[in-house]
Amino acid sequence: MDKNIYLAQFYGKSQNYTQIPREWFTKYGVKRGLRNEDHTGVLVGLTRIADVVGYQRDEKGQKVDCDGVLYYRGIDIRELAKVENYRGYLYEEASFLLLFGYLPTEDELNAFCKVLQNGYDLPDDFLEMNLLRLPGKNLMNKLQHALLTLYNYDPDPDNTDVYQTLRKGLNIMSKLPSIAVYAYMSKVHYYNRKSLVIHYPRKDYSTAENILSMLRPDSKFTPKEAQLLDLLLFLHADHGGGTNSTFTNIVVSSTDTDLYSSMASSVGALKGPRHGGANIRVSLMMEQVIDAIGIKATDEQIVDVIHQILNKKFKGCHDGLVYGFGHAVYTLSDPRAEIMRHYCGILAKEKGMTDIFRFYNRFEKLAMKTLKEEKGVNMCSNVDYYSGFAYNMLGIPRDLYTPLFVISRMVGWLAHNIEHKLYDNRIVRPAAKYVGDLMDYIPRKDR
Ligand SMILES: CC(C)(COP(=O)(O)OP(=O)(O)OC[C@H]1O[C@@H](n2cnc3c(N)ncnc32)[C@H](O)[C@@H]1OP(=O)(O)O)[C@@H](O)C(=O)NCCC(=O)NCCS
Repeated sequence: MDKNIYLAQFYGKSQNYTQIPREWFTKYGVKRGLRNEDHTGVLVGLTRIADVVGYQRDEKGQKVDCDGVLYYRGIDIRELAKVENYRGYLYEEASFLLLFGYLPTEDELNAFCKVLQNGYDLPDDFLEMNLLRLPGKNLMNKLQHALLTLYNYDPDPDNTDVYQTLRKGLNIMSKLPSIAVYAYMSKVHYYNRKSLVIHYPRKDYSTAENILSMLRPDSKFTPKEAQLLDLLLFLHADHGGGTNSTFTNIVVSSTDTDLYSSMASSVGALKGPRHGGANIRVSLMMEQVIDAIGIKATDEQIVDVIHQILNKKFKGCHDGLVYGFGHAVYTLSDPRAEIMRHYCGILAKEKGMTDIFRFYNRFEKLAMKTLKEEKGVNMCSNVDYYSGFAYNMLGIPRDLYTPLFVISRMVGWLAHNIEHKLYDNRIVRPAAKYVGDLMDYIPRKDR
């Protein structure tokens, strides 16, 4: 603990010199959070990778809320995720589509999967030196560390040529599942005194199958479980160029720094609870809600809890946010949450978790209604609302929820990194206006 009382005094005194009143942002036309007045995002780029549709414009140009649609390279994700079309390797297929712009033939997909599978193994001493010897208490920070360490294993790490970026990015994608699972194993072995379980990745497995097989002590999983995880990875693969962690990637890589540094920065952005870290917060919040009122609670009890959360009076929820709700673009619905709800319902039946699933459904409807009443805007459930529930059904520990988001989104970051290098490639450098006073310099002895 810092015992220096002077520091607190300096901090208090600094308020006389450093304040920026909120109304000045409007006065100077600053787009806080890079948002327009109507909350839509400021246009900062062009992309052909993904389109996030959450509202429309009427003839007067006013924003009109609508159901959300997400397109990967112009294809509605609901089409790609249709159960009757499922033939495995959905995440890899979507990755191909996002990176190369078209749907692969069977042969092309196989060849692409081979590239990933051939990169599954970690460099010789990577596991021992970086993951087992240095367990991390937060897996997101550990992933950043591991990514920056991979730089050292690359013979030409600073090469930012587009094709080399693609190769390096695919290499990172193929190694991330092992890194995340081993980082988890190392953490629980060291901090929770659990047995250390290390399974090698299998080259005949997809990304989803490998994660389940490396995570489970007996390596076993059912086809339905692998399908749900494949779908989850697919749903998180990209979300357009305005997403905070993707924009972060562009900002950092626009300096022409190495790919490992850009990816580590994106992981830092995704960790935040307003972004990818929300999936952990939702899971904790729902656990506490169920502890407090039980899954048989009445609608009145649920609404009461939602009000307590909003008023910062509910245990563990001190920021007034109902996690898993609200989105910068989506208004009436988030298509990813819709798809996830559907598949969670199917697996919940198999796992005997229908009661909890129904509670999630009821809480979802009541939270959306209450948020609309309290905030005056439509706030739909977002991708993070059901993802924790889905991971829980798959027996995936909470520590890995956000790292799984990283594993999946790595392809989106890579695709946008490459697109920016190819078609924009200017250093990102916006402006900030100086609004302080000018002061005379006073020599130190006279102050
Ligand atoms: C996602 C999120 C960051 C989007 O933020 P945004 O587009 O900037 O939304 P805004 O901050 O403009 O929201 C407008 C108002 O609604 C509030 N709000 C937004 N989401 C809210 C939520 N989930 N619970 C309670 N209030 C919320 C904001 O605090 C703000 O209130 P104010 O006007 O009283 O300050 C925000 O909805 C959020 O924090 N959600 C919870 C975290 C989450 O689930 N993140 C995952 C996103 S996929």
